[in-house]
Amino acid sequence: MATSGATALYVHWPFCKAKCPYCDFNSHVSTSVDHPRWADQLKRELDHMAALSERRGQVLSSIFFGGGTPSLMAPETMASVINHAAEVFHFAPDIEITMEANPTSVEAEKLAAFRGSGANRLSMGIQSLRREALAFLGREHSADEAMDALALARELFPRVSADFIYARPQQTEAEWQAELEEILALGLDHLSLYQLTLEPGTAFYSQHQRGMLDLPHDDMARGFYDLTQSLTAASGCPAYEVSNHAARGQESQHNLMYWSAGDWLGIGPGAYGRFWRDGKRVETRSRRAPQSWLDDVTRQGHAIDQLTHDEPLDYAHEAMMMGLRLTRGVDLTRVEHYAGPRAHWLNLALLDQLAEDGLITMTDDHLSLTAKGQPVLNAILGGVLIT
Ligand SMILES: C[S@@+](CC[C@H](N)C(=O)[O-])C[C@H]1O[C@@H](n2cnc3c(N)ncnc32)[C@H](O)[C@@H]1O
Ligand code: SF4
Repeated sequence: MATSGATALYVHWPFCKAKCPYCDFNSHVSTSVDHPRWADQLKRELDHMAALSERRGQVLSSIFFGGGTPSLMAPETMASVINHAAEVFHFAPDIEITMEANPTSVEAEKLAAFRGSGANRLSMGIQSLRREALAFLGREHSADEAMDALALARELFPRVSADFIYARPQQTEAEWQAELEEILALGLDHLSLYQLTLEPGTAFYSQHQRGMLDLPHDDMARGFYDLTQSLTAASGCPAYEVSNHAARGQESQHNLMYWSAGDWLGIGPGAYGRFWRDGKRVETRSRRAPQSWLDDVTRQGHAIDQLTHDEPLDYAHEAMMMGLRLTRGVDLTRVEHYAGPRAHWLNLALLDQLAEDGLITMTDDHLSLTAKGQPVLNAILGGVLIT
């Protein structure tokens, strides 16, 4: 399991072919990337984080190459980071090594080499099966190209997931139902299904500000969400997190590490990590701009520009915020291990009331939201956490 004392590793690759108009991830378009230099500096920052967290020689349960577009990496760079991680840590026998990939034909040609580098799980950003939607979302691939890349990925990788974006402007529920049925017919055992959100700083956000783009209003968005939950559950791929769906046993172990407030190290531009050390919850953030990151790591072995030490109470809040996104909820016993008795950080009287109202379910060791409670997650958090 993801949280049994093991550590996870996130590696950020910050480059993309083009910037999608909805995306606020730390991604940049660059025509020249010095791949061997990036490989060397990623490994140096890895060494630094392993030392800082005192995790050298400890069990590593997952690696996640996220982006940006990791399928634009040189496969040798990925292999070199994985091999180095194997020297620094002790790989769990069932280590999960995921890479995100975009489904253009050029990237598809490299998939076998990525598999050869040691990645054993691939998460493909398809976003839509509809031509007009792909054009609207500014994607660099067609639906046919994506289906070819997906078929190849499934031949090569033991585990494959795909990302889609729904609740798009002008999309009707009936249209999404038809598209989702096609997606489910692909028979994937993991899907990330995101409602389109407007993120400040993106092209879509400024179009929205100028009145040129509208998203479905709240009631409609709720309808899209409920439809998604029921169709995925009926096809054996139910939600285990707000936007993530999996057949039993196919959940992303790496992402479960975040949602269960486990320990992970983050390397690469803008990556962040969180781990326990000497009774404190440490958070690291590395510089976002790729060139500044590269320069800092070259000069000093890391590019951490924020290092904070949180108190156990902050950790209880982190664990609640992340864990209530999970269908299985928060493991209260585990949080108590770090943050002390639950009565110190939870308003138990209010929780009893919320349980009576059918918004939460609480057992001795788990707290989760009911379907009725999910839409009011933030209000519940605001009320039950003792600050
Ligand atoms: C780091 S990005 C994707 C990786 C890869 N570069 C790609 O585009 O396929 C992870 C996923 O977040 C989702 N995403 C990003 N911005 C979003 C937004 N504003 N609304 C909804 N989903 C979003 C997309 O589905 C995307 O595949
Ligand atoms: S969605 Fe993916 S390809 Fe598009 S800008 Fe974001 S990270 Fe890059």
